[in-house]
Amino acid sequence: MKKLYFGSNLKMYKTIRETTEYLTSLARLTEDISREETELFIIPSYTALERACASVDQNLIRLGAQNMCWEEQGQFTGEISPLMLQETGVRLVMIGHSERRHVFGETDEEENKKVSCALQHGFTALLCIGETAEDKKYAVGPEVLRMQLKKGLSGIDADGTDRLWVAYEPVWSIGVNGTPATADYAERMHGEIKRCLLELFPETGAQIPVLYGGSVNPGNAEELIVQPSIDGLFVGRAAWQADKFNELIRSAQKAAGR
Ligand code: 13P
Repeated sequence: MKKLYFGSNLKMYKTIRETTEYLTSLARLTEDISREETELFIIPSYTALERACASVDQNLIRLGAQNMCWEEQGQFTGEISPLMLQETGVRLVMIGHSERRHVFGETDEEENKKVSCALQHGFTALLCIGETAEDKKYAVGPEVLRMQLKKGLSGIDADGTDRLWVAYEPVWSIGVNGTPATADYAERMHGEIKRCLLELFPETGAQIPVLYGGSVNPGNAEELIVQPSIDGLFVGRAAWQADKFNELIRSAQKAAGR
């Protein structure tokens, strides 16, 4: 039985106190869920990371950072280095979120340096990819995803892929103005991503989990999670109340026969 992944990116929401309350509550609500079969993770803001790590057992809820610089130190004002993240205790680093790429102009080349640096420093790297509405209009989504994977994972050693996760988050599906991808569409794109990962890493590519994100909600979580190429759900707004996220996780698990 494949492992399922459920996680949330808290974006620029929740103070330190709100984050620790949320995590404590989510850990309590989900404590009976088997962590052999299900991986839960939360990605709070930088300022909350140290306290978050002290307030929750990462064997129950893995914690991650929303971004990371590719250098250990230097003249990079405003950036956070892998050594600084190691100090906080997080085990996961998200790289290339749609908002990093499209609001802050990050490139595939930069994401590649970050993935490589995150893996070298012992983190699990969650690389986010996704096509824009224009890419979709011209039906070049698969080509764009392949390019993001090939560039973003360039030079990555197959040995590191046991700490690599991919999130497919179509840009047009994310946030308050987003429209969720249909389960059929998401499954097709996930299939494309999985084929590409297998081409890049013939020995280990099939093991890399591929999560869907973008307007996941209680109304579509079940049909998405039952798709054969979808290994998990990466949720924004619908996960930011612990009880609501717990319900979503449980209904998705049930739909997936758990
Ligand atoms: P929403 O679920 O709010 O659309 O956000 C998804 C997301 O960006 C997760 O990283």
